[in-house]
Amino acid sequence: MTARETFRERYGPWALVAGASEGLGAEFARQIAARGLHLVLVARRGDLLEAVADELQSRHGVQTRTAVVDMGAADAPERLRAAAAGLEIGLAVANAAFAPVGPFLERPLGDALRAVDVNCRGPLAIAHVLGAAMAARGRGGLVLMSSLAGQQGSPGITAYAATKAFNTVLAEGLWAELRPLGVDVVVCTAGAILTPGFAQASTRRAPGSLPPGAVARAALDALGHGPRVVPGPFNRVAAGLMARVLPRRTAIGIMAGQTGDLARG
Ligand SMILES: NC(=O)c1ccc[n+]([C@@H]2O[C@H](COP(=O)([O-])OP(=O)(O)OC[C@H]3O[C@@H](n4cnc5c(N)ncnc54)[C@H](OP(=O)(O)O)[C@@H]3O)[C@@H](O)[C@H]2O)c1
Repeated sequence: MTARETFRERYGPWALVAGASEGLGAEFARQIAARGLHLVLVARRGDLLEAVADELQSRHGVQTRTAVVDMGAADAPERLRAAAAGLEIGLAVANAAFAPVGPFLERPLGDALRAVDVNCRGPLAIAHVLGAAMAARGRGGLVLMSSLAGQQGSPGITAYAATKAFNTVLAEGLWAELRPLGVDVVVCTAGAILTPGFAQASTRRAPGSLPPGAVARAALDALGHGPRVVPGPFNRVAAGLMARVLPRRTAIGIMAGQTGDLARG
């Protein structure tokens, strides 16, 4: 069996990607389609989702379904269920995120709460709604997107970083719980990724920045080898240093050097 066939058998026939309209999510969708899976594409901007769907159909000959869902809305679980209805979804990627940038106290509380809704409640809903069906079938995969910003306090993106810490811990627990049920869980703890979202948040090129293609590939290849993957050698070394070698205050200080200009507005 080829690697593509093995992947499809283990995680197909359908995959769902949340936050698939652009950036890393669209790249996840492309790479999953290239591995022969059909795609449910979820985000808020339906026109962009349709463009990605057209591309996947014509390039890879896979079937697609698009679903306009706000992953931070209270009805997201119901909408996800509707989007997945009648399909055997063997792979889900929780990629949608909201990153309020700037001094914590100078942004409305609503922004931080929205980050919790999109970045924490969203992946929880995906894991519960789609994970249950995977566990019942005894096979499947879940990818949760996290960030090196979530390894320690990250001034300027404080609430966002805290939601990413939530994703890492959520995925690690699920990895252990679902593995005996046949479901592979992996959290992708990425450094800076060259996406439209990152370009909007920062004008600086962060060290270790990677193109979305490299990050999506690392995350998909890590399925079955969880619980965690850090794409890129520079980021792996940095992650190890920050988490295991340096004192906590120093790690926060280094992060402040990267993101602190955001905290100052
Ligand atoms: N970029 C980085 O440097 C970086 C670093 C580490 C980790 N990450 C993580 O990687 C993932 C992707 O990042 P990115 O830079 O590609 O983000 P992005 O460019 O901001 O794209 C986010 C995607 O999520 C969708 N989305 C946002 N809010 C949504 C909502 N409420 N409901 C449904 N979909 C929503 C967006 O589509 P719509 O606007 O159409 O809804 C878009 O497709 C995120 O989880 C992020 O935390 C990024």
